Amino acid sequence: MEPIILSIDQVFGTVPENKIMSFKKDVQKHIDALYQKTGKGNDFLGWVDLPAKTTDHQLKEIHEVANELRNKIDVLVVIGIGGSYLGAKSVIDILSHNFNALLVNRKNPVVLYAGQNIGEDYLFELLEVLENYKYGITVISKSGTTTEPAIAFRLLRHHLETKYGKNEARKRIVAITDEKKGALLNLAKKEGYKTFFIPHDVGGRYSVLTPVGLFPIAVAGGNIFAIIKGAQHIMELTGPKIPFEENPAALYAATRNSLYINGKILEIMVNFTPRMHNFSEWWKQLYGESEGKQGKGIFPVSVDFTTDLHSMGQYIQDGQRNIFETVLSVSESRNSLAIPYENDDADGLNFISYKPLSYVNKMAQLGTLLAHVDGGVPNILIEIPKLNENYIGQLIYMFEMACGISGYMLDVNPFDQPGVEAYKHNMFALLGKPGYEETSEIIRNRIDKMS
Ligand code: PA5
Repeated sequence: MEPIILSIDQVFGTVPENKIMSFKKDVQKHIDALYQKTGKGNDFLGWVDLPAKTTDHQLKEIHEVANELRNKIDVLVVIGIGGSYLGAKSVIDILSHNFNALLVNRKNPVVLYAGQNIGEDYLFELLEVLENYKYGITVISKSGTTTEPAIAFRLLRHHLETKYGKNEARKRIVAITDEKKGALLNLAKKEGYKTFFIPHDVGGRYSVLTPVGLFPIAVAGGNIFAIIKGAQHIMELTGPKIPFEENPAALYAATRNSLYINGKILEIMVNFTPRMHNFSEWWKQLYGESEGKQGKGIFPVSVDFTTDLHSMGQYIQDGQRNIFETVLSVSESRNSLAIPYENDDADGLNFISYKPLSYVNKMAQLGTLLAHVDGGVPNILIEIPKLNENYIGQLIYMFEMACGISGYMLDVNPFDQPGVEAYKHNMFALLGKPGYEETSEIIRNRIDKMS
């Protein structure tokens, strides 16, 4: 099995190779700390050896329950927010037909999402659409108490129960939550929903290789056995015994931190493959939530090329020089489509007639890389032979491992998220949640002064 390949030579104009190599010892120390659970946030390191620990028995159970649900539904609604939906969404998008929802004789259910916002129109219109489809729900929340998914689940549960009756509705709901506590666990027990558990030592954004990601992916038709195989493979190639120079996670972490120290404070995740858009969303959450703390951290952003070359391309080429790019380069398309020849060549495209679009896209990619590097934007390149389950498993685990190393290089805890509590506190106070009475008054006074 070929691995994904990381190339860093297009950053050497900004940081010399020896500077990156000088992090070797430091990085080794951090990999050891992740494996030996001696670093910050060491009670959330269950993801480190998760691929190796995942058994065929566990995967078969997920696969069987997913198949049972698949057979009853046209639409799966995944309810969750942050780490409880982004991983599944990114993988489902990569594996699915770009226009699955419009396919005649569709093999796989359409997957829709809820609980990732509080948009009134979004949820109203979702319920409106679900009137006409056979559907099921998977509700995902590790804490079991997150407001956005809880609101969506209450609304959708009522809708499902009205549509099918309580008994049948129950059979169309799969809950994924903590084994020991939380409102969702209590509700799942009370209602008798089929439930999968999230290991207590795996945080939300590191949970895509648990039932959190695997169950929705399996319902959508993805091969979860192959995803885990890919993850197991790259786990071996990023482990503590692998030399720094050969370890893609170590090199990626060291390179991006070297760039950061050199003033490159924004990392742009680039793809040239539309189905990868949401993979960047997953990556942004992983890195943004893991590293952005104590006034530190690279700000992760993303673009879809060539689309965004016609918008953000100007800034990247010519704006502030505080950015670098990490390019996800996919070698092989799933389909082949060539540009037709036309006698009159009215649109002037005959110079590329009979060429496959993948060739044109590749040339766009190479041209962009040269232009951006010449313009002072260093590029890290990740080559992915093709977008199948195996390589997705590899990518996910490689980025998780690199994120753990990178967070430790920054000297932050990459496994907590204290910063997300501030908005919740204010929102609960404003909404009058019991227990927030004191803050409520202070906040209301502040808001009155603002108006
Ligand atoms: O990475 C994280 O921990 C967060 O993004 C969570 O996944 C997100 O807040 C959802 O939390 P929960 O699964 O508890 O509803």
